[in-house]
Amino acid sequence: MTRNLFFLLFLLAAISVINAIPHKLNRRTSVFGQCPLSPALPTFDATIVPDPVVGGQLATYNISGTAQTDFPDDAEIIILISDAFGQAPYDSPFGGDFCNIPGNPPCPIKAGTSFNRLFSSVQTPDGIPSTFTDTILIMQADTTTSTIACAVATVA
Ligand SMILES: *[C@@H]1O[C@H](CO)[C@@H](O)[C@H](O)[C@H]1NC(C)=O
Repeated sequence: MTRNLFFLLFLLAAISVINAIPHKLNRRTSVFGQCPLSPALPTFDATIVPDPVVGGQLATYNISGTAQTDFPDDAEIIILISDAFGQAPYDSPFGGDFCNIPGNPPCPIKAGTSFNRLFSSVQTPDGIPSTFTDTILIMQADTTTSTIACAVATVA
């Protein structure tokens, strides 16, 4: 009797652990976060429509955050899809002006200032696999080309 009770409690405990495991597999969303770089770079928030992006279609990227360093006049955005962070992109990456966008306040964006930019026609490469990494880089090109902020999402 005591044994049966013990077994029952064990079973109930096991079931509650199983229920606590998030049902990740059905939720394919792009959650952007800090890029795995050393030294770490500032990051920002991004949401996409559609989420996740679909190969061969256009996507809208909504990028927002607070500039940790000044974003100069010639800041550029690069968006690329690859198998994993830092690997060769599928197709040519999307690249464009981060500043000089009609309807948006101009650059420079001073450190500590919040920003929000919408990029509405970003082509997603055709034939991307079902598991991929979406990387967004904000670059400066003035003196030496360098990345000033970075966000990455892995869709699996
Ligand atoms: C873009 O994201 C910002 C910050 O989350 C939000 O306030 C804004 O409404 C979004 N814009 C669109 C067009 O979704």
